[in-house]
Amino acid sequence: MHEEALTRWQRGWSASRGWTDYQQVDDVTVVRVGEPERRVEYVTTEANARAAAHLALTDCHPPGTSWLAITTDNPARLAANLKPLEALRTEWLMTISLADQASYPVPAPYSLEISVTPSIIDAQICGYGEIAATGRMAVLHTGAVADLITTAPAHRHRGLAKALMTALAQSTPTPTAYLSASPQGRPLYESLGWTTLTPLLIARTSVASPL
Ligand SMILES: CC(C)(COP(=O)(O)OP(=O)(O)OC[C@H]1O[C@@H](n2cnc3c(N)ncnc32)[C@H](O)[C@@H]1OP(=O)(O)O)[C@@H](O)C(=O)NCCC(=O)NCCS
Repeated sequence: MHEEALTRWQRGWSASRGWTDYQQVDDVTVVRVGEPERRVEYVTTEANARAAAHLALTDCHPPGTSWLAITTDNPARLAANLKPLEALRTEWLMTISLADQASYPVPAPYSLEISVTPSIIDAQICGYGEIAATGRMAVLHTGAVADLITTAPAHRHRGLAKALMTALAQSTPTPTAYLSASPQGRPLYESLGWTTLTPLLIARTSVASPL
């Protein structure tokens, strides 16, 4: 389920993070991340979870550094079936037609800065001499992907993330956007009009896994 949205999200997420090396193996997208704590990311749907788990458990990376993102309608069931992989958390794959996203202004005395390249839009809100909120939109022909949306703890619940998402949407030329929402982020995106497509279980090889 939601294979196309998952693929569109993965493409944009990878573009946002600069993870340009990925390929399909057994209906699993294998993203060669190459970071010390996250060497590889296996992205797929629950129908291919067994193949993804096999890839993660047999690759050559240190325990704890092979990650999985798998769509499922039942994260608890999938987590149980993935053992000995370690289920870390549930996120939610969400989408919106950007024209339908609610709009909010940047509240005073904060100010907004936007930097735009053909494929990445970065937004930053500053105030009280600090960077208060940051976020990014990767722009691909397959759809845009919002990523790294963060408000510094001292500046939360003042509407900064809403204003940031508004600015990113207004700068994005593609009609549709996707994101993977954290539990903290999901109410924010719902309040802006985003729709949840499916839960996304985040797992990784266990540090206790045998080599
Ligand atoms: C999620 C996050 C970006 C929200 O930033 P923010 O600037 O506080 O958000 P806003 O003030 O614009 O709030 C927008 C709406 O989201 C909802 N919301 C925001 N934070 C919430 C929370 N902790 N719990 C419940 N609802 C919340 C509310 O509906 C809020 O509207 P309201 O304040 O009028 O009720 C911020 O809490 C954060 O950086 N969290 C850690 C990183 C993270 O999880 N980012 C999301 C990644 S997908």
